[in-house]
Amino acid sequence: MYFDTHTHLDDRRFLSDQEEVIKRAQEAGVELIVNVGENVKSARRTVELTQKYDFIYGAVGLHPHEAKDFSVDVLEQLRDLTREPKIVAVGEIGLDYYYDHSPRNIQQQAFRQLIRLAKEVRLPIIIHDRDAHENTLRIIKEEKADEVGGVFHCYSGSVPLAREIIKMGFYLALGGALTFQNARKTVEVARAIPLEYLLIETDCPYLTPVPYRGKRNEPAYVVKVAEAIAEIKGLSVEEVAQTTTNNGKKLFGISE
Ligand code: NI
Repeated sequence: MYFDTHTHLDDRRFLSDQEEVIKRAQEAGVELIVNVGENVKSARRTVELTQKYDFIYGAVGLHPHEAKDFSVDVLEQLRDLTREPKIVAVGEIGLDYYYDHSPRNIQQQAFRQLIRLAKEVRLPIIIHDRDAHENTLRIIKEEKADEVGGVFHCYSGSVPLAREIIKMGFYLALGGALTFQNARKTVEVARAIPLEYLLIETDCPYLTPVPYRGKRNEPAYVVKVAEAIAEIKGLSVEEVAQTTTNNGKKLFGISE
Protein backbone atom coordinates (compact mmCIF):
# COMPACT_ATOMS: atom_id res chain seq x y z
CA MET A 1 0.00 0.00 0.00
CA TYR A 2 2.84 2.47 0.85
CA PHE A 3 5.98 3.00 -1.21
CA ASP A 4 8.94 4.34 0.79
CA THR A 5 11.01 5.73 -2.08
CA HIS A 6 14.12 6.63 -0.07
CA THR A 7 15.71 4.53 2.66
CA HIS A 8 19.23 3.84 3.94
CA LEU A 9 18.58 0.43 5.46
CA ASP A 10 22.24 -0.47 4.92
CA ASP A 11 23.23 2.27 7.38
CA ARG A 12 25.19 1.09 10.41
CA ARG A 13 22.32 2.20 12.65
CA PHE A 14 20.30 -0.76 11.29
CA LEU A 15 23.14 -3.24 11.72
CA SER A 16 21.73 -5.01 14.75
CA ASP A 17 18.05 -5.24 13.81
CA GLN A 18 17.67 -4.73 10.07
CA GLU A 19 15.42 -7.79 9.67
CA GLU A 20 13.03 -6.68 12.39
CA VAL A 21 12.87 -3.17 10.92
CA ILE A 22 11.98 -4.60 7.51
CA LYS A 23 9.37 -6.86 9.08
CA ARG A 24 7.79 -3.90 10.86
CA ALA A 25 7.66 -2.04 7.54
CA GLN A 26 5.70 -4.89 5.95
CA GLU A 27 3.36 -5.06 8.92
CA ALA A 28 2.71 -1.32 8.55
CA GLY A 29 1.67 -1.82 4.90
CA VAL A 30 4.88 -0.75 3.16
CA GLU A 31 4.80 -2.82 -0.02
CA LEU A 32 7.73 -1.26 -1.90
CA ILE A 33 11.05 0.30 -0.88
CA VAL A 34 13.91 1.87 -2.81
CA ASN A 35 17.12 1.69 -0.80
CA VAL A 36 19.51 4.43 -1.84
CA GLY A 37 23.29 4.04 -1.94
CA GLU A 38 25.64 6.79 -0.82
CA ASN A 39 28.95 5.43 -2.13
CA VAL A 40 30.28 2.25 -3.77
CA LYS A 41 30.25 0.22 -0.55
CA SER A 42 26.73 1.27 0.29
CA ALA A 43 25.68 0.57 -3.32
CA ARG A 44 26.98 -3.00 -2.94
CA ARG A 45 25.06 -3.43 0.31
CA THR A 46 22.00 -2.06 -1.50
CA VAL A 47 22.31 -4.71 -4.22
CA GLU A 48 22.49 -7.37 -1.49
CA LEU A 49 19.28 -6.04 0.06
CA THR A 50 17.50 -6.20 -3.33
CA GLN A 51 18.57 -9.81 -3.67
CA LYS A 52 17.39 -10.73 -0.21
CA TYR A 53 13.96 -9.05 -0.26
CA ASP A 54 11.43 -9.20 -3.10
CA PHE A 55 9.91 -5.82 -2.34
CA ILE A 56 13.17 -3.89 -1.97
CA TYR A 57 14.63 -2.16 -5.04
CA GLY A 58 17.78 -0.08 -5.12
CA ALA A 59 19.60 3.00 -6.38
CA VAL A 60 23.36 3.35 -6.74
CA GLY A 61 25.21 6.65 -6.68
CA LEU A 62 27.56 8.95 -4.81
CA HIS A 63 26.16 11.32 -2.18
CA PRO A 64 27.39 14.92 -2.58
CA HIS A 65 29.03 14.61 0.86
CA GLU A 66 31.29 11.97 -0.68
CA ALA A 67 31.90 13.69 -4.01
CA LYS A 68 35.50 14.27 -2.95
CA ASP A 69 36.05 10.53 -3.46
CA PHE A 70 34.79 10.62 -7.04
CA SER A 71 37.11 9.01 -9.60
CA VAL A 72 36.99 7.17 -12.91
CA ASP A 73 37.28 3.95 -10.93
CA VAL A 74 34.28 4.85 -8.75
CA LEU A 75 32.29 5.70 -11.86
CA GLU A 76 33.18 2.33 -13.41
CA GLN A 77 32.14 0.42 -10.30
CA LEU A 78 28.85 2.29 -10.12
CA ARG A 79 28.24 1.67 -13.82
CA ASP A 80 28.69 -2.09 -13.24
CA LEU A 81 26.25 -1.99 -10.34
CA THR A 82 23.55 -0.26 -12.42
CA ARG A 83 23.38 -3.47 -14.45
CA GLU A 84 22.04 -5.41 -11.47
CA PRO A 85 18.43 -6.35 -12.21
CA LYS A 86 16.70 -4.53 -9.34
CA ILE A 87 18.69 -1.30 -9.52
CA VAL A 88 16.10 1.22 -10.69
CA ALA A 89 17.84 4.61 -10.34
CA VAL A 90 21.13 6.48 -10.06
CA GLY A 91 21.24 8.16 -6.65
CA GLU A 92 21.62 9.73 -4.52
CA ILE A 93 23.48 12.44 -6.37
CA GLY A 94 23.41 16.22 -6.26
CA LEU A 95 24.69 19.20 -4.32
CA ASP A 96 24.86 19.98 -0.62
CA TYR A 97 25.94 23.55 0.14
CA TYR A 98 24.68 23.35 3.72
CA TYR A 99 27.35 21.00 5.01
CA ASP A 100 29.90 21.49 2.22
CA HIS A 101 31.61 18.19 3.07
CA SER A 102 33.12 18.21 -0.43
CA PRO A 103 34.33 21.29 -2.35
CA ARG A 104 31.49 22.75 -4.43
CA ASN A 105 33.26 22.50 -7.79
CA ILE A 106 34.00 18.81 -7.09
CA GLN A 107 30.35 18.22 -6.13
CA GLN A 108 29.26 19.79 -9.40
CA GLN A 109 31.66 17.69 -11.47
CA ALA A 110 30.58 14.45 -9.81
CA PHE A 111 26.91 15.41 -10.20
CA ARG A 112 27.38 16.02 -13.93
CA GLN A 113 29.25 12.75 -14.47
CA LEU A 114 26.59 10.77 -12.63
CA ILE A 115 23.78 12.38 -14.62
CA ARG A 116 25.65 11.32 -17.75
CA LEU A 117 25.88 7.78 -16.37
CA ALA A 118 22.12 7.75 -15.71
CA LYS A 119 21.45 8.84 -19.28
CA GLU A 120 23.83 6.22 -20.62
CA VAL A 121 22.14 3.39 -18.72
CA ARG A 122 18.67 4.98 -19.01
CA LEU A 123 17.77 5.18 -15.35
CA PRO A 124 16.07 8.07 -13.53
CA ILE A 125 18.03 10.05 -10.93
CA ILE A 126 17.45 10.63 -7.22
CA ILE A 127 18.56 14.17 -6.45
CA HIS A 128 19.84 15.52 -3.15
CA ASP A 129 19.67 19.33 -3.19
CA ARG A 130 20.39 21.15 0.03
CA ASP A 131 20.77 24.95 -0.15
CA ALA A 132 21.88 24.59 -3.76
CA HIS A 133 18.63 25.02 -5.71
CA GLU A 134 20.02 27.38 -8.33
CA ASN A 135 23.06 25.30 -9.27
CA THR A 136 21.15 22.02 -9.08
CA LEU A 137 18.56 23.27 -11.54
CA ARG A 138 21.16 24.78 -13.84
CA ILE A 139 23.15 21.52 -14.02
CA ILE A 140 20.01 19.47 -14.59
CA LYS A 141 19.08 21.71 -17.49
CA GLU A 142 22.59 21.86 -18.97
CA GLU A 143 22.97 18.08 -18.76
CA LYS A 144 19.44 17.54 -20.11
CA ALA A 145 18.61 15.24 -17.21
CA ASP A 146 14.93 15.53 -18.10
CA GLU A 147 15.62 12.85 -20.71
CA VAL A 148 15.68 10.31 -17.85
CA GLY A 149 13.69 12.24 -15.23
CA GLY A 150 13.88 11.60 -11.54
CA VAL A 151 12.93 12.89 -8.13
CA PHE A 152 14.01 15.73 -5.86
CA HIS A 153 14.26 13.80 -2.62
CA CYS A 154 13.28 15.45 0.65
CA TYR A 155 12.21 18.54 -1.27
CA SER A 156 12.84 21.70 0.72
CA GLY A 157 12.42 24.50 -1.81
CA SER A 158 9.64 26.98 -2.58
CA VAL A 159 6.35 26.49 -4.41
CA PRO A 160 7.48 28.39 -7.57
CA LEU A 161 10.62 26.25 -7.78
CA ALA A 162 8.50 23.11 -7.25
CA ARG A 163 6.32 24.17 -10.18
CA GLU A 164 9.40 24.62 -12.36
CA ILE A 165 10.68 21.17 -11.36
CA ILE A 166 7.46 19.31 -12.12
CA LYS A 167 7.19 21.14 -15.45
CA MET A 168 10.49 19.47 -16.38
CA GLY A 169 8.88 16.11 -15.59
CA PHE A 170 10.51 15.49 -12.22
CA TYR A 171 8.77 14.31 -9.06
CA LEU A 172 9.05 15.77 -5.58
CA ALA A 173 9.46 13.43 -2.61
CA LEU A 174 8.22 14.60 0.77
CA GLY A 175 9.37 13.09 4.03
CA GLY A 176 9.26 13.45 7.78
CA ALA A 177 10.18 17.15 7.60
CA LEU A 178 6.57 17.75 6.58
CA THR A 179 5.47 16.91 10.11
CA PHE A 180 7.90 19.30 11.84
CA GLN A 181 6.59 22.42 13.52
CA ASN A 182 8.66 24.75 11.30
CA ALA A 183 7.52 23.02 8.10
CA ARG A 184 5.44 25.91 6.75
CA LYS A 185 7.22 26.01 3.38
CA THR A 186 6.97 22.26 2.81
CA VAL A 187 3.32 22.29 3.86
CA GLU A 188 2.68 24.94 1.19
CA VAL A 189 4.37 22.71 -1.39
CA ALA A 190 2.27 19.73 -0.33
CA ARG A 191 -0.86 21.84 -0.67
CA ALA A 192 0.01 23.47 -4.03
CA ILE A 193 1.52 20.59 -5.97
CA PRO A 194 -0.91 17.97 -7.38
CA LEU A 195 -0.64 14.50 -5.90
CA GLU A 196 0.37 13.11 -9.33
CA TYR A 197 3.82 14.69 -8.85
CA LEU A 198 4.47 13.62 -5.27
CA LEU A 199 6.28 10.65 -3.76
CA ILE A 200 6.66 9.78 -0.10
CA GLU A 201 9.84 8.72 1.69
CA THR A 202 11.46 8.38 5.09
CA ASP A 203 15.18 8.93 4.32
CA CYS A 204 15.61 6.66 7.34
CA PRO A 205 17.53 6.60 9.66
CA TYR A 206 17.29 10.40 9.33
CA LEU A 207 14.41 12.93 9.51
CA THR A 208 12.11 11.01 11.82
CA PRO A 209 8.52 12.28 11.62
CA VAL A 210 6.40 13.45 14.54
CA PRO A 211 5.47 11.76 16.92
CA TYR A 212 8.67 9.67 16.77
CA ARG A 213 11.12 12.58 16.62
CA GLY A 214 14.31 11.90 18.53
CA LYS A 215 14.17 8.21 17.67
CA ARG A 216 15.83 6.51 14.71
CA ASN A 217 13.61 6.73 11.62
CA GLU A 218 12.43 3.55 9.84
CA PRO A 219 10.24 2.70 6.80
CA ALA A 220 7.14 1.90 8.89
CA TYR A 221 6.95 5.61 9.77
CA VAL A 222 6.33 6.56 6.12
CA VAL A 223 2.66 6.17 7.06
CA LYS A 224 3.00 9.42 9.05
CA VAL A 225 4.12 11.24 5.90
CA ALA A 226 1.13 9.94 3.93
CA GLU A 227 -1.18 10.98 6.78
CA ALA A 228 0.30 14.48 6.81
CA ILE A 229 -0.22 14.91 3.05
CA ALA A 230 -3.76 13.54 3.33
CA GLU A 231 -4.60 16.04 6.06
CA ILE A 232 -3.08 19.01 4.18
CA LYS A 233 -4.83 18.12 0.93
CA GLY A 234 -8.12 16.97 2.47
CA LEU A 235 -7.82 13.51 0.93
CA SER A 236 -8.02 10.03 2.38
CA VAL A 237 -4.76 8.36 3.45
CA GLU A 238 -5.66 5.48 1.10
CA GLU A 239 -5.75 7.80 -1.90
CA VAL A 240 -2.42 9.39 -0.98
CA ALA A 241 -0.87 5.95 -0.47
CA GLN A 242 -2.25 4.56 -3.72
CA THR A 243 -1.36 7.52 -5.92
CA THR A 244 2.15 8.02 -4.53
CA THR A 245 2.78 4.28 -4.92
CA ASN A 246 1.66 4.41 -8.55
CA ASN A 247 3.83 7.49 -9.14
CA GLY A 248 6.87 5.71 -7.74
CA LYS A 249 6.24 2.57 -9.78
CA LYS A 250 5.95 4.67 -12.92
CA LEU A 251 9.12 6.64 -12.22
CA PHE A 252 11.23 3.60 -11.31
CA GLY A 253 9.71 1.30 -13.94
CA ILE A 254 8.40 -1.23 -11.41
CA SER A 255 5.52 -3.19 -12.88
CA GLU A 256 4.52 -5.60 -10.10
NI1 NI B 1 19.25 10.02 1.59
